[in-house]
Amino acid sequence: MSQAITLVEVGPRDGLQNEKQTVDVATKVELIERLAACGFKNVEGGAFVSPKWVPQMAASDEAMATIKRAKGVSYPVLTPNMKGYEGARAAKADTVAVFGAASESFSQKNINCSIAESLERFKPVIDAAKADGVHVRGYVSCVLGCPYEGKIAPEQVVPVAKALYEMGCYEISLGDTIGVGTPEETKALIRAVAADVPVAALAGHFHDTYGQALSNIWAALGEGVTVFDCSVSGLGGCPYAKGASGNVASEDVVYSLARSGFETGVDLDALIETSVWISEIIGRKPGSKVTLARTGG
Ligand code: HMG
Ligand code: MG
Repeated sequence: MSQAITLVEVGPRDGLQNEKQTVDVATKVELIERLAACGFKNVEGGAFVSPKWVPQMAASDEAMATIKRAKGVSYPVLTPNMKGYEGARAAKADTVAVFGAASESFSQKNINCSIAESLERFKPVIDAAKADGVHVRGYVSCVLGCPYEGKIAPEQVVPVAKALYEMGCYEISLGDTIGVGTPEETKALIRAVAADVPVAALAGHFHDTYGQALSNIWAALGEGVTVFDCSVSGLGGCPYAKGASGNVASEDVVYSLARSGFETGVDLDALIETSVWISEIIGRKPGSKVTLARTGG
């Protein structure tokens, strides 16, 4: 039997949060529903963050309240603090995500506090979620490089990943936020983190700024990671990481893994159609080589 890979589709959040063109709620809702219909079992639906910091996520409450939830699909949303958690709960979120960083400067720029303060803020969110039966995912950003501090060593990532896991996050998504890492660096990172957090609880979140994302997925796969974040059409970037391109395009990940014999559960043709549709709406070419190849560019 082929090995199953879990893909977390982050386009409606990590993608749209950094597209110049803000899409309306109806489009966001349709995007989330279409991605679930493609076969993703995890579709990140939005972020309950300050609209002054990330205006593109302002209507996450409306979008989450409107989507028709598909059976067996979870729709995580970002919650940096209790205010975000309460908003997420009011919108019936079943899974929330807290997001820390391996770099002090990025933590300050992204969530306006130190790494230690961020962990303190996440604690009540995770505790409330546990009491409510809500799952909590943890992100660590800048695991291979930081836009302000340069190269980040695995030793800086390990304590943050470990803390989030021990606080109760079911999965730790390791984010190469600015897409600078290479396969050898990815392997070293996974080995270091997996010494303290079970590899089954790790996810890879690779941005494709330097064209390394798919290679890094394969490197992480070789180390036993089986959960990967990806974004339809390679949408997005990061508002607090200048020059960061989108996440690895979901179509490219599905193609590469499925053709290599892995089971992703995602219908590539439906995904390509969704990619073309959302790319037209935001007025840019699909950011997936597979979609361009299949549609003639
Ligand atoms: P702050 O200014 O320190 O917060 O921001 P505060 O508690 O002092 O509150 C200031 C104002 O924000 C108040 O409103 C609060 O009510 C409001 P005012 O009185 O001025 O009108 N506020 C909120 N509003 C809505 N939702 C909330 C919330 N909390 C406070 N949850 C804060 C701190 C965390 C809120 C802010 O820095 C923020 O929203 N940052 C968001 C950053 C973000 O979303 N970044 C992108 C996601 S991370 C990412 O993309 C990386 C990732 O993909 C992984 C990777 O790629 O590596 C995950
Ligand atoms: Mg990201």
